[in-house]
Parts: sequence; C-alpha cells; structure tokens
Amino acid sequence: MAELRKIQVADTQPFRQLLPNLVKPISYDITIKPDFDQFTFLGTSSIEIKVFENTQEIILHAVDLEILECTLKSGKDSFDKSRLNYNKDDETVTLYFKEKITVGKYQLDLSFNGQLNDKMVGFYRSKYEKNGEYKFCGVTQFEPTDARRAFPCFDEPSLKATFVIRLDIPVSLIGLSNMPVDFSETRGDTQLITYKPTPIMSTYLIAFVIGEYDFVESKTERGVTVRVFTEVGKSKKGKFALACACKILDFYTDYFDLGYPLEKVDMIAISDFSAGAMENWGLITYRETALLIDEATSSLASKQRVAYVVAHELAHQWFGNLVTMAWWNDLWLNEGFATWVGNLAVDFLYKEWDAWPQFVQEYTSSALQLDSLRSSHPIEVEVRRSSEVNEIFDAISYCKGASVIRMLAAHLGMDVFREGLRGYLKKHQYGNAATKDLWCSLSEASNKDIVEFTYKWTKETGYPVIMVTRTAKDTLSVTQKRFLATGEALKEEKAWQVPLSVTGDGTNTVFRKVLSTFEDTLRLPEDLAKSTWLKLNVGFNGFYRVKYSDELFSALSDALITQVLPTVDRLGIANDAFALSRAGYIRTDKVLSLIEYFKEEKEYTVWVDITENLRQVQVLYEEHEAKEKLQTYMRQLYSPIAHEVGWEPEENEHPLRSLLRSVVISALGLNGDAAIIDVARDRFAKYLEDPASLIPDLRSAVFSIVVANGGKHEFDSVRSIFYNADMHEERMRALSALGRTEIPQLVDELLKMGHSEAVRPSDLCYVYGSLSSNGVARPLAWKYMKEHFPALKQQFGNGQFLLCRMIEVATKNFASKEKAQEIREFFTVHPTESALRTIENSIERVMSNAAWLERDRQHVFEYLRKR
Ligand code: BES
Ligand code: ZN
Repeated sequence: MAELRKIQVADTQPFRQLLPNLVKPISYDITIKPDFDQFTFLGTSSIEIKVFENTQEIILHAVDLEILECTLKSGKDSFDKSRLNYNKDDETVTLYFKEKITVGKYQLDLSFNGQLNDKMVGFYRSKYEKNGEYKFCGVTQFEPTDARRAFPCFDEPSLKATFVIRLDIPVSLIGLSNMPVDFSETRGDTQLITYKPTPIMSTYLIAFVIGEYDFVESKTERGVTVRVFTEVGKSKKGKFALACACKILDFYTDYFDLGYPLEKVDMIAISDFSAGAMENWGLITYRETALLIDEATSSLASKQRVAYVVAHELAHQWFGNLVTMAWWNDLWLNEGFATWVGNLAVDFLYKEWDAWPQFVQEYTSSALQLDSLRSSHPIEVEVRRSSEVNEIFDAISYCKGASVIRMLAAHLGMDVFREGLRGYLKKHQYGNAATKDLWCSLSEASNKDIVEFTYKWTKETGYPVIMVTRTAKDTLSVTQKRFLATGEALKEEKAWQVPLSVTGDGTNTVFRKVLSTFEDTLRLPEDLAKSTWLKLNVGFNGFYRVKYSDELFSALSDALITQVLPTVDRLGIANDAFALSRAGYIRTDKVLSLIEYFKEEKEYTVWVDITENLRQVQVLYEEHEAKEKLQTYMRQLYSPIAHEVGWEPEENEHPLRSLLRSVVISALGLNGDAAIIDVARDRFAKYLEDPASLIPDLRSAVFSIVVANGGKHEFDSVRSIFYNADMHEERMRALSALGRTEIPQLVDELLKMGHSEAVRPSDLCYVYGSLSSNGVARPLAWKYMKEHFPALKQQFGNGQFLLCRMIEVATKNFASKEKAQEIREFFTVHPTESALRTIENSIERVMSNAAWLERDRQHVFEYLRKR
C-alpha cells in the first residue's frame, strides 16, 4: 500500500510529509458553483495525471470536501473507485481502485462539495455592506496549503500543472480568476465563465473571486492590462495602486529582463482577509488598507504602505510564481526576495521616500531582534507538515531574508547581483528552484564562491556581534561571536563571513574586508588612520551588530553632533546601542546619554527608530520609580525637534517631514507634554466639526493623544469615528487609538468590542497590538485572551498565522520571570501546535526583558535623577 512519502532530508533531520511519488498532475479542468444562500459549493474536476508505477490507489490532498463521484479513464477503459478514505491528519483522500492502474496517462474525474467557510482560508465567504445591507462574496486564499479545501488536488509547490478554471455563478455577479475570460455561456440567470488555461503553475497560486465590484483600468507600457477592483462606487480609491502597479510592472520587466507572462493582472480589495495581500498569479488579493487610497483622507504612511505592498506582490509574479521554491523550507526565496526587490521598486518610484533607511529601520532591525533569540531559526528551515508552514511567514523569512540579500547585493555589487538574478529566473522559469540554485546563478555571474560566503547566514540561526578596538591610529582589532539578547556566549563551530566596512571623518574612503575568522586585525589606509572617529558597517548593509570599545564609542558622539554621517549610519549607531544594552554589552544609562546627542537630529527615520527603541525601554519601567523621570527625559529630548516641525505643514516641505511631525507630536503627547495635549484636544474638537480640518498624517497622533489623556467622553468620540468612517484606513486609526486608554473599564469595553461583530476578525490583532503596548491595558488584554482562547482558536483555526500574531503581541512586552512562567504554563494547558515557535520566542523575549530591567534599573534611575 502506498503511504504518504516521508522523505528523510538529511541524516539528522526529521521526515517531510509528501504525497507518494507515483502520480503527477499534468492539467486540471475545474468547475466551481457556489451557493451564497447555503454557504456551500459544488465542484467538478477533471485532472489529467501521469502514473509512474503500477498502483491500485491514488492519494490527493482534500480537506473538508466530500467526494461524490470519481472515475478514472484511459482511452476507453474506465475504472470505478471501489472505496475512498479520508485521512484527517495528512489532509488527504485515498482513492482505491478495483483494478491495477498501470504506468501511463489517465484522466481522473471527480465531483465534490464543500463549505463556503468563514475562516479566511480555502474558498471562503467575505462579508461586505451594500446600501446598508450585509452581503457575501466568495474569495480564495490558498497559500500555503489550503487549495485542498477548494478542490481535491496535488497540493505541493513542486507539483505544477496547467489549470482551466470555470465558474458557474449568477449573471448579476462578477467572476474573476487568474486568467482572462476565454468564453462564457449564459443560461437564464446563471453564467458559466471559462477562463483561459494558465501557464504551468503551483496550486497555492490559483485564485477566484465572485461578487459585486467596480474597477478602474489601465495598461503598462508593454501592453499588460491592469485593473483594480473595489466595492461598488469606490473605484476611484483604486487609482493610486493602479498607477503604481503599471510603473512597477514595467520596472520589473526591465530589471529582470523578462516580461510579465500573462495578459492581465487584477488587484482586488477584500474586506475579510487574513494576510496583508496575496500574490495569486494574475489575481492579487489585498486587505482594503493595503490597496485603497483616498486622496483627501489617506495619510502618506498609507500611500507608502500601498506602494510597497503592490511592489511586493508584483515581485512575486516573477519570484514565486514564475520560479517557485521546490518546498516550503525555501519559503524565504519567495518572501525575502519580494521584500528586498519590493523596496528596490519603491525606491525607484519614490526617491524622496528614502526607502533604504526605512528598510533598515523596519526590516533589518526586526530581523536582528528576532534572530537574537535562541529560539529563532535558520533562513533555510525544515518544514515537515502543513501545520508548520504558516509559522515561518515571520521576520526571519521576510526580514532576515531580505537583509541577507541586501548584504549580498552590496558585497557583489548591484550590477553583478542583477545579472545573477536574471540568470536564475531565465534558467528556472515555469519550474521550481532551491536556495542552492540561486547561489549557483550568483556564483556564475560574479565568479565568486557564494556558497561558502552565505553558508552560515542562511543555514544557521543567528548573526554575529563584531567587537572592535583601535589598538593604534591605523589598526583595528576585531573579533566576532554570536549575538544573543541574553548576552550569553555560545560557542560557534564556524565563523561567519562578515563583510566589514569602515569609514571615518574628513574622508569618503570606505575600507572593506571580509572577516572570515573569529579574530583579525585591520590595517587602515592613511586617510582613515587620521580620523578622530570611525564608523563600521557603513550603510548598515551588513546583518550584524557592532560593539565599539569605550574610546571608539565616545568618539562617535562627534559624528552625531556634526551630522556628517548619512541617515542610515546615524540610525545604525542608535539601533545597535539599544540592542547592545538589552544584551548587557553597554549599560542602558550610557545609551540614554548617547541619545541626548541626537537632539539636533532632523531625519524622520532616525527619530522613528529612536522612538521605537525608547518605547521598549519605557515598557520595562512602567511599574518602576524611574517611570516619571523617563517621561521627563522624553519631553526634553523631543522638545527641540517639536519646536522645529511645529503643527502646521510648511509649503513644499519634504514629504518625510510630515511623518516626522506625527512621530514627534505623539512622543510628546503620550509622555504628558501639557502644551501638546492642549493643542491635540483643540484639533480634535475641530476635526469632529470638520474632518477636513485635520490633515490625515496627524490623525493617528491626535486620536491617540486624546484617548490616552482623556476619559469616557474622548473614548466614545473616537469610537464613533471607528463606527462611522467611510475609509477602513480611518477606522483602523481610530481602533488603534482606542487601545491607548488607561481606564480599565474602557479597556474591557474595547476587548469586548474586539471580539464582537463590530470588529472584523482580520482586525482583532490591532486591538491586541495597541492594548499590549499600553502598560495599564497589557495585563488586562492578556487575561482576556486567556479567558477567550478556546473561542479564538476556534475562530482562527489551527495553523493560521493571525493567531500567531495575536499571541505574539499579547505576550512579548511583559518583563518578569513570573510572567514568562505563566505564559509557558498557559500554553502547556492549551497546546497550540501551530504557534509553537511564536510561543517560545515570546517567552524568551519576556525573559530577556526581565534580565535587562534587573541589570540596569539602578543605573537608569541614578542617571535620570542626576540629569
Ligand atoms: N505570500 C504572502 C501572503 C501570505 C502570508 C500567505 C502568510 C500565507 C501566509 C504575501 O506575498 C505577503 O507577503 N503578504 C504580506 C504583505 C507584504 C507586503 C509584507 C502580508 O500578508 O503580511
Ligand atoms: Zn510575499
């Protein structure tokens, strides 16, 4: 009897759960007929398969489907299934045949029915409002392993086939799928739409959507049709994304030197959507906030988000769709790449947004954080079963993946790197590839041995901290070891290959050397030997931390005061310093003192980073006597820059200045600055009269300040914005602001509201997110989550990453050993298989918070007292 093939990947590694190697699909012809009254669907599927070994059974993936009929044909023979057996654990169905099926080609015909579920996976229903009435549309989300919920299939990324999709739907609805319509037949009030055959592709990229929509349409320079679909009457809000998509498609066509292979790409906003967006080939689905822009009410931050998400998903049309990872262990090839190249495209489109410093601030910084835990994982990570796949859509696959790519691109040079990418895409198009195939193409393009260079970065967990001392004017001594948030020393067997770079004052010289041993000495060129200060990891291109000797560290304050270093390097100095203090390499009071040199700082990105890091410090001191002194420190730190940016935008100001204004005003208003709070209240009152009076970039700040410093009245006002706003973006601003309340009873109301019909399930994580960064609300939110955990698990299914995100945000900001223990105990009693990694990460993070606080609390207090 053929069983699921369990492949042993390497001697020491566990098994991968795969379908047996006996049968492969060649093409599918699938018809789906949804029933929006019963929330069910009927389907038929005709799969052309190739049988490689004689067998009496065929195994396919299927979940929550009932197979009604099944026949197997080859020429004129027809086999009847004698029996079938569903295997819940493996998510498969086995078809047993009476006669032996010999090697050859067959046609497998199936009919089946399923549920149009409300879990945001497989083929599901999404609720929307039309003229005050609730209606449903049908949507798919198949990545990573939920195509098997919509039709029986060979649901593995390597088992590529071509697909003809047919939708049998009411004439009043629009049907969309990956490909353009081939033909359609109307019978009474139903239509059967047949879409053109897809290219050879993986199951997880198939999509169809059925509902009522309006759209806007345009074409790229190369003639690809691009459309953006929205709720009826809102198509104007798709214009920004439409314009971005056209330009980005042309950009990628040039960059990859390979055209987009389909005739069209549709992008559609879906109201109930678990991810941010999904790159289905030719039919990309989005959360509303990741696609729709209203020129009058959207913030610049939203525009940046939309441009980036569109760029990210379009990047997948090449990286992921055209060339697909062979198995989920190489998910990073998809997500790391789309993250890096998505930023490259945004930088191309909007130079003024300073994409790369923001990249370091958002992506590199969160990857460095997660990867400083022992419970992190390597970029290339073994994935055995489908329940394990969802969890690796994390900061390692996305952010470390993208940061390592950025490091590699800088190391090889951008042109060589692009050549390598072009080679890789051409060679593997319409096929599957693994990490080593990428290294192979990059090695060919660069004539360098990439495998050795990248080995430890992608095959092992963690990254190094480089300890540097100036032993003579022209000499640096450097050592490397693994950086852990706990400060522990782990013995590494092998050293990382670290691309070092050094710059100094009064020169543009950058000295470079790859450190490939645990210790080394760098001999600096003449102009660097003259420098009073030296800065390593120039441009923050490398994925590592730098710990300067005391002497080098104090000299850096000169560089900060004179602001001669580029934005990304100033940001890097602060970011490293905070991380080093968490791990015990520098005392936190020394970092607080370093940050005072940033008073003259003017760049948005530097300020966001400092703000986020100081927030982490503040989180630790919420119940400590230093709390108020820290608030005073914050007010003094932000005063000069607040004075400079003011409340009113200047004419023709740099776009990032508007974002800076909001960061600075929030920091002050949330740290008790009376003047700022007064103005915020005043602006809020005016906004309630006339929303247009408050520019969108300041709304989050104003709503948050008003709620944080107000009572029930303010809470209710912001809540009514949530209920009444037309744009989902505005509703989300209001929802997050509500989480700032420090009144326990209101926290409770917000939690109840979050779990009610009022908040879409896909947005509940924002409620937990904002409550958990609020000291008063955090324990209440965690308590509530614990009490409602069975319901949450039920609602968010097993194996969904939204559950992981909620667990993560609700737990990771605690700062005591007792809490870490409590979290461990809770999940022992409530085992959550699909969030095992997340839970371990959180517990370790809480332990490191606790250690950080314990180690430095006295010094921090003394420092703040004496200032
Ligand atoms: N392929 C993912 C969508 C996805 C995420 C599917 C998790 C299954 C599980 C998509 O390309 C993606 O990365 N979406 C991001 C948004 C992106 C712009 C960062 C997301 O959903 O967060
Ligand atoms: Zn992606």
